[in-house]
Amino acid sequence: MNVLILGSGGREHAFALKLSGSKKITQLFVAPGNAGTNKIAKNISINLSDFEAVKQTVLENDIKMVVVGPEVPLVDGVHDFFLADESLKNIPVIGPKKDGALLEGSKDFSKQFMKKHGIPTARYQSFTKENLEEGYAFLETLEPPFVLKADGLAAGKGVLILNSLEEAKTELEDMVSNQKFGKASTTVVIEEFLKGIELSVFVLTDGKSYKILPSAKDYKRIGEGDTGLNTGGMGAISPVPFADDAFLNKVEELVVKPTIAGLQKDGIDYKGFIFIGLMNDNGNPSVVEYNVRMGDPETEVVLPRIASDLFELFEGVANQTLHLKTFSVINKTATTVVLVSGGYPEAYKKNKEITGFETVDESIVYHAGTANKDHKVVTSGGRVMAVTSLGSTIEEALEKTYRSIDKIHFDGMNYRKDIGFDLGMPNAEK
Ligand code: AMP
Ligand code: GLY
Repeated sequence: MNVLILGSGGREHAFALKLSGSKKITQLFVAPGNAGTNKIAKNISINLSDFEAVKQTVLENDIKMVVVGPEVPLVDGVHDFFLADESLKNIPVIGPKKDGALLEGSKDFSKQFMKKHGIPTARYQSFTKENLEEGYAFLETLEPPFVLKADGLAAGKGVLILNSLEEAKTELEDMVSNQKFGKASTTVVIEEFLKGIELSVFVLTDGKSYKILPSAKDYKRIGEGDTGLNTGGMGAISPVPFADDAFLNKVEELVVKPTIAGLQKDGIDYKGFIFIGLMNDNGNPSVVEYNVRMGDPETEVVLPRIASDLFELFEGVANQTLHLKTFSVINKTATTVVLVSGGYPEAYKKNKEITGFETVDESIVYHAGTANKDHKVVTSGGRVMAVTSLGSTIEEALEKTYRSIDKIHFDGMNYRKDIGFDLGMPNAEK
């Protein structure tokens, strides 16, 4: 069977690599893909917002399943587009329809969903420019820091955490009245600040049953010691040492089960991944956010730990037979460190030749922002590669990753040398 993966990052290379091990797959396609997916699949250079181009790709290449990596096509309704098209409607899409994708596409919707279904999350209210004064009044009832979230998708930039009430009021006005984040901030969610340590839990569901995938922690800031600007993610670790069985049981009972049951009650037929961003406050989980896809770079530590055939699981999702599928996890620690282009997450250079990555033999090098040019592999994005290793301990996995990174070079290469620094590892540095 031919399978198409939509997307072009490290997450999609990880999907492609994992799926390439499945005997049932004849040919893999990735659109648009990168230099890494190009080696194990056929890249198709299309724009993912162009659903007609996706359709043409599917029909021309006899694709029988589509796996959606990023959130934008899901929020824009790629799954609904398939269901509404006579020639595509029987081709399963792994990823929710528009109604389910609202869990990520609208913070206001996801907060209402959590409230309605009794899922633990920060207290909140939503405001627009029509009730700005009430927004100021709500802020006055909260303790600093103040959390302001643009309702819609804002490429990971729509959340502000502010220490002063005055600043929070000014920013709120800027968001709703001046559209600081464009249409995404027409509505703003204001919520209580949650204390604790963050981690993510991933769920794959066919709408009825679910599998809980390995947990992961990512490192979002550009700078060591979690300092500087936010990025898409600079590294990740799985499993998360502070997410013990007692905590994960609470997550399953208090968050995962009511989420799946809530989707069913609300008539949302959800097929795909749910990425649950959580705060662990003294052993109690609270939901920070839902995403309707896998995380990047979390996928690069979650998938290498899954022993089961991912395609079999996807078939289970498509046919609603996920409960019949076996699911097992490799009992090792996975670490990934992301190599970025100097300057990222602000302006950075592209088209820099990358060398040495083919000589890496104790880690997996997932390509993210890479492209083929004149028989070379060059940088084409801010996050360039994610270097993943498995080990018996975090230390062992990190040592392998940093040894592998030493073999890779490109002009302006930057990466965090302290991934895992907060997990009780004084020697995590290179
Ligand atoms: P989100 O896009 O909702 O995940 O928010 C981005 C980041 O802001 C999260 O990963 C958290 O680090 C932080 N954050 C969001 N909401 C809260 C909150 N209520 N309390 C504390 N931190 C938060
Ligand atoms: N690494 C965070 C995300 O994928 O949203």
